Amino acid sequence: MAVDAFIAGMPKCELHLHIEGTLEPELKMRLAERNHVRMPYRTVEEARDAYKFDSLTSFLVGYYESMNVLLTEPDFYDLATAYLTKAASQNVRYAEIFFDPQAHTSRGVPFDLVIRGLRRAVLDAERLLGIRAQLIMCFLRDFSAEYAMATLMESLPYREWIVGVGLDSDERDNPPVKFAKVFARAREEGYLITAHCDIDQPNTHEHIRQCLDVIGVDRIDHGSNALEDEELTAEIARRGLGFTVCPVSNGFVTSDMKAAEIRRMLDLGLKVTINSDDPAYFLAYVSENLQAVQEKLGLGRDELVQFERNAFEIAWLPRATKDAFL
Ligand code: HPA
Ligand code: ZN
Repeated sequence: MAVDAFIAGMPKCELHLHIEGTLEPELKMRLAERNHVRMPYRTVEEARDAYKFDSLTSFLVGYYESMNVLLTEPDFYDLATAYLTKAASQNVRYAEIFFDPQAHTSRGVPFDLVIRGLRRAVLDAERLLGIRAQLIMCFLRDFSAEYAMATLMESLPYREWIVGVGLDSDERDNPPVKFAKVFARAREEGYLITAHCDIDQPNTHEHIRQCLDVIGVDRIDHGSNALEDEELTAEIARRGLGFTVCPVSNGFVTSDMKAAEIRRMLDLGLKVTINSDDPAYFLAYVSENLQAVQEKLGLGRDELVQFERNAFEIAWLPRATKDAFL
């Protein structure tokens, strides 16, 4: 069997996926029309060409701008259903999905409508497509800690629909400690915790250290810079924390997929996983990310399987449910 067919057939688990980053130009244009939102382009091709960036900051501009078409509960339902359908077609069996409520509430779109649309899509996908998913609510780190806390409070009526909280958006000058109180309260409420430790950041090691010592994260999104610091690497290994690495996304924001770091994580026995981040923008869902790493590193099938074993192992699921996947 060719390796691409092997990757396609492997049962997969995706742990780093921003639902707003799955908004394909086709759906964006359809929602713009449905909601009477004026777009600066007329065709899907023009919309696709507008998706251009070369850094996290320039990516985030288009990412937030595109969200203006997301206004109603059915919009969020359609967005998540499109992703879950695509993921199921790639034999993703389980996904943990980030959503950015503040990217919507800051535009006047109510929290409850966002979460209800996403939740309905998760339930329907499980029933109709056989794919399981859970939601992770991210705080936008370039907004204030007070706004994050208010968002946390707003989420509490939906506590049972959200497995954990994360931290994303622009990391520059927005260290994890800024949100220490928010994460402490999230922990009290029983949320699990993750945070982005982006690869193109100044103070990157200090930020990863804060995630470990102040926030007490349950895993790390991206985070491959930790390998440059032996003590950080040792501490992460000791705690058994996983990394959700996104190779094609890395290649877009730094022109380095970080394949050497992925190789090293495998060699060290760290729980490295391969994910798609914002697949509509980076033009690669999880299978294409696995293919990209495989081509670069010439991985064996056992190593490809190891990524998925790691992912199910660090997934935020009860032990018995993980074991059923493994
Ligand atoms: N990094 C930070 N914030 C994000 C990302 C990312 O890769 N994707 C969507 N929001
Ligand atoms: Zn991300």
